Amino acid sequence: MVASSAPLLLLQTLIHLLLCISAQEFLLPGSSLYVDGELHSPDGTFTCGFQQISPNASTFSIWFSKSTQKTVVWSANPLHPVYSWGSKVELKSDGRLNLKNYNGQTVWTNNVSSSDAQHAQLLDSGNLVVKGKAGITLWQSFDSPTDTLLPTQSITAAIKLVSTNRLLVPGHFSFHFDDQYLLTLFDDEKDISFIYWPEPRGNIWQKKRNPFNSTRNGILDSWGHFHGSDNLTFMAADWGPNISRRLTLDYDGNLRLYSLDMTGSWSVTWMVFPQLCKVRGLCGRNGICVYTPAPACVCAPGYDVIDPSDRSKGCSPRVNISCHGQEVEFISLRHTDFLGYDLSAHHSVSVNSCMDICLSDCNCVGFAYWEGLGDCYPKNVLLGGVAISNLFSTGTMYLKLPKGVVSNYSTPYSQPFGPKYGPNCSTTNKIFIADFLDTRNSGQSTPFPYFYGFLSAIFLAEVIFVILGWFILRRESLQLRVWTDEAGYQMIANHFRRYTYRELVLATRKFKDELGRGASGIVYKGVLKDNRVVAVKKLVEINEGEEEFQHELGVMSRIYHTNLVRIWGFCSDGTHRILVSEFVENGSLDKILFDSESSQNLLGWKQRFNIAVGVAKGLAYLHHECSEWVIHCDVKPDNILLGKNMEPKITDFGLAKLLNRGGSNMNVSRIRGTRGYLAPEWVSSQPITAKVDVYSFGVVLLELLKGARVSELQKNEDDDLKMALGRVIRVLAEQLKSDHSDEFWIADFIDTRLHGQFNNTQARMTMEVAVSCLEEDRGRRPTMEYVVEMLVSVDEVNQTVVG
Ligand SMILES: *[C@@H]1O[C@H](CO)[C@@H](O)[C@H](O)[C@H]1NC(C)=O
Ligand SMILES: *[C@@H]1O[C@H](CO)[C@@H](O)[C@H](O)[C@H]1NC(C)=O
Ligand SMILES: *[C@@H]1O[C@H](CO)[C@@H](O)[C@H](O)[C@H]1NC(C)=O
Ligand SMILES: *[C@@H]1O[C@H](CO)[C@@H](O)[C@H](O)[C@H]1NC(C)=O
Ligand SMILES: *[C@@H]1O[C@H](CO)[C@@H](O)[C@H](O)[C@H]1NC(C)=O
Ligand SMILES: *[C@@H]1O[C@H](CO)[C@@H](O)[C@H](O)[C@H]1NC(C)=O
Ligand SMILES: *[C@@H]1O[C@H](CO)[C@@H](O)[C@H](O)[C@H]1NC(C)=O
Ligand SMILES: *[C@@H]1O[C@H](CO)[C@@H](O)[C@H](O)[C@H]1NC(C)=O
Repeated sequence: MVASSAPLLLLQTLIHLLLCISAQEFLLPGSSLYVDGELHSPDGTFTCGFQQISPNASTFSIWFSKSTQKTVVWSANPLHPVYSWGSKVELKSDGRLNLKNYNGQTVWTNNVSSSDAQHAQLLDSGNLVVKGKAGITLWQSFDSPTDTLLPTQSITAAIKLVSTNRLLVPGHFSFHFDDQYLLTLFDDEKDISFIYWPEPRGNIWQKKRNPFNSTRNGILDSWGHFHGSDNLTFMAADWGPNISRRLTLDYDGNLRLYSLDMTGSWSVTWMVFPQLCKVRGLCGRNGICVYTPAPACVCAPGYDVIDPSDRSKGCSPRVNISCHGQEVEFISLRHTDFLGYDLSAHHSVSVNSCMDICLSDCNCVGFAYWEGLGDCYPKNVLLGGVAISNLFSTGTMYLKLPKGVVSNYSTPYSQPFGPKYGPNCSTTNKIFIADFLDTRNSGQSTPFPYFYGFLSAIFLAEVIFVILGWFILRRESLQLRVWTDEAGYQMIANHFRRYTYRELVLATRKFKDELGRGASGIVYKGVLKDNRVVAVKKLVEINEGEEEFQHELGVMSRIYHTNLVRIWGFCSDGTHRILVSEFVENGSLDKILFDSESSQNLLGWKQRFNIAVGVAKGLAYLHHECSEWVIHCDVKPDNILLGKNMEPKITDFGLAKLLNRGGSNMNVSRIRGTRGYLAPEWVSSQPITAKVDVYSFGVVLLELLKGARVSELQKNEDDDLKMALGRVIRVLAEQLKSDHSDEFWIADFIDTRLHGQFNNTQARMTMEVAVSCLEEDRGRRPTMEYVVEMLVSVDEVNQTVVG
């Protein structure tokens, strides 16, 4: 052991020495670091120097050397950048570090004055220190963090993390100890400031914190475990040694813990808000956060965007409400909530009395009303607006607006996707940029490349739970710790793991309980050691090698959406290739939808429509923005499972060969889909794109409408299914185009078992979407994202006017 490690040690020392020669490690008193100079930490993890933020402006900063995109962890002068030529940092003999602009003006100083300083040095931890005699620390950058806390760096009473916006300018979110000595997230807006985490309405037990511990200290250790004196604790999903980490308060107000993986990109391993819309103040005053499915901001009806490039500035009223002599009306927004700022609370009152309460108060801008409970909350500020489609999770919001301001009731629901702030798909580096990160800054010069680095780190807010690189999974011994649901949120990704074949044999009692079989394999029911009920799918015909298989699962492990079956893990053991996924209670859609016998299981219109919307959302998520993560290739009712409340969950995704990220051509060696659902391009030799799923989805929509398989359109053997389908589409398209008054044909088309019980508007829209999805020319088919928009626009949230 000793013998073998000795040469290694020597080599290390040599490399070390070489590094020392080629890169500067110390700044000595009297010397300066110029714009082109850099200080490196001994192990090379961090670099300190001038960070260009625009062609002519730089900040004195520290960043990770090894991440592919430059990730700044500290900046001396974010608010006062210096000129990119002729500026320098000099170390005085008394320990002062002076950052001087090209004209000699001191822009920043560390305020040290000591008898004598030895040197300034960047440590392996990312801490820039000025050392005095006998190694005492005169000053350290760890005492004045910007938006990032590094492992071993303490957050104390005097320290505050402040979010930075795209230009690295401090934003309005901050993280520090509050007056109860709890680590807290604050939002300081122009005229209001508030706490948004921990949930201010909760009491101390719900917060699971320990107040008034005057120690006021919190620290992230090098293994990814955070512990605060207020008992705030959390752990990275890839908890373990030797991983570069950072805890950053991102520009969007979410506090995220990141790990640097081997490829040099950042993965989120913990965050405060898996659902970004819960960050209050994200959309500013009078803004509403909607999931599209990525979060986006829209204005409440009657309000207009203040600054399109920064939605957190919120929206301003189109017409000011004056107290007297103005006719007002109430616009209702279902499934929408604004948090806090209640003028009062009333229970068991009617909606009309709630209106009267709001009308009689000049400060009231609207009220939240919970039907059934009769709860009434008049509000004086509209903040933290969020539109959630879960039933019962919110009340109905009634906005008080001057009469006539919103003439045709265009509410967040009818235009839920507002102006789109999505990523620019034509840019060469296809990094996911969450909606808020858009770089459309009108008039200004183009965004600087490194911003993408900053942004890429944020790597899709929300719904996506990005997890650890494969190297973790390879190290089987390092099992992921399950981070339990602490304050009502869950880090879902860390459940993903590798199972051994023996574990699965045990879980399924030797593969006894068969749930179903499909082209890709047989599914069994199983119960894991932690009592989770799972579906275990033994894959057949997986020709790919171990590595390929693991790679594909790497992508699947990042996929999480309510309308997609959750993959818990996998097993790759000898010849066995097995997927372990969520067990979905009600089986597949085809069993229920096409079952003509049992009428008690008949899916009502509402359920069918919800299934259509859910499946569309799931597919939109798979096709994910511009990057087309996964093309399903086999969308059909058999692959749509129904949960407890008949909510749809798509299964079997990711089994088709994954798309090449960069190109549009997918090399699918054989046709995967199912007859009847296959898009025309499968048989022609065109490249396969996400539009094949759009086509199959169109077929599923027709089946939901008719309650029968499209294959039944084929009256006899000779009849070609494709032609029959084409005829139906043509007839539908013509009907939709021609008539507006006579709607009887709609009822004729729809499943007779519903006995005319359906929503006409929704049925019509469903037909329109189906027709457009079934276009022969894939270029004319809509994207799934657009399909979601269309369907959601007629989701029964349409507004009524009262008052
Ligand atoms: C940067 O400085 C140069 C020379 O002083 C000037 O010509 C150029 O316009 C400046 N660029 C910007 C973006 O300010
Ligand atoms: C140094 O002191 C000046 C004046 O007291 C103050 O404005 C500045 O913020 C201080 N700088 C630091 C880095 O503490
Ligand atoms: C601190 O947290 C631990 C575990 O999360 C819990 O057992 C303990 O009761 C907490 N202490 C206080 C004072 O809340
Ligand atoms: C306060 O926090 C410190 C550091 O976490 C801990 O050691 C100490 O026991 C705590 N004190 C009380 C009274 O809980
Ligand atoms: C972490 O790195 C140190 C030093 O490079 C090494 O001695 C140690 O074995 C590593 N630990 C693991 C678990 O890889
Ligand atoms: C509404 O009032 C505010 C402040 O009184 C004012 O700044 C704003 O211009 C007014 N807006 C309109 C549309 O009149
Ligand atoms: C609603 O009004 C806006 C302008 O006020 C108009 O552009 C839009 O077409 C109208 N929408 C409908 C459905 O009438
Ligand atoms: C997207 O990026 C490309 C290349 O960088 C640019 O030419 C194009 O104008 C951008 N589009 C938008 C909408 O910003």
